[in-house]
Amino acid sequence: MVMPQLWRSVRAPSPDAPLTLSPSAPGLSVQPGFRLQIEADEAAVAERVAGVLLEALEVGEPVGLATGRTMEPVYGALRRRVAGWTPARRGRLLVRWCSFNLDEYVGLGPADAGSFAAVMAEALGLPLGLAAGQLQLPDGRALDPDAEARRYGAAVAAAGGIALQLLGLGSNGHVGFNEPPCPANAPCRCLELSSATRRQNAAAFGGDPAAVPERAITLGTAEILAARRVLLVVTGSAKAEILRRSLQEPPGPEVPASWLQRHPQLQVVVDAAAAAALS
Ligand code: GLP
Repeated sequence: MVMPQLWRSVRAPSPDAPLTLSPSAPGLSVQPGFRLQIEADEAAVAERVAGVLLEALEVGEPVGLATGRTMEPVYGALRRRVAGWTPARRGRLLVRWCSFNLDEYVGLGPADAGSFAAVMAEALGLPLGLAAGQLQLPDGRALDPDAEARRYGAAVAAAGGIALQLLGLGSNGHVGFNEPPCPANAPCRCLELSSATRRQNAAAFGGDPAAVPERAITLGTAEILAARRVLLVVTGSAKAEILRRSLQEPPGPEVPASWLQRHPQLQVVVDAAAAAALS
């Protein structure tokens, strides 16, 4: 367990510098490479995360990307940064870009507005001018979703695995679409979405949870934990309690994100609202 006293003792950021915590105290269940950064608000989180993503993308490392409302300001910040670059630097980024999204709904393809393929095309593909296929996602329209999940997991492996994995946090503790209960070694697969997740994601489907696809293909906890670095991004007071459970309760299948405590290089970037329940 993270020692509550340690967290409290370091929470004294200056107004213009984020709190950075690199715990090495005995008793912590997280690894020495763990860093928690608490920013004032969502906009500051987005700026920090966009910078970390671009560093990896610029050198051509395979980056794992995520969707969800948390990532909208992140991709906005990324677009703004790139827009300010020289054409040469921008061109190098586009040539080297290698990304794999975490997940996709079964049955949906790029032409469906609710698909993650469509979300990514709008957020990054079209504005940046990435070539078709550079934003890699599982094919939700594949006739055999189980085979597609195996193909996608193999494609990630063939790229040498994920160098930097960006993650949001589901309100039920899922990462990607790894719904609880989930072991630490679940592979890329096709699975049933929980009703909690379908409710959480209903906004993209006219607010109707029943319109959210019942299944998805997701990278598993196995591929996520095998990433060289993991970057977990959490904003808003609604996620405060599940963030606390993810970081400050012993890891277990009921909160899939809690397995991240075992990752040797976990960076967590949150806003003050999401950090509120960390004791
Ligand atoms: C979604 C995605 C996750 C995402 C999470 C949080 O269902 N599959 O990858 O990180 O749930 O979503 P949001 O940022 O909208 O809260």
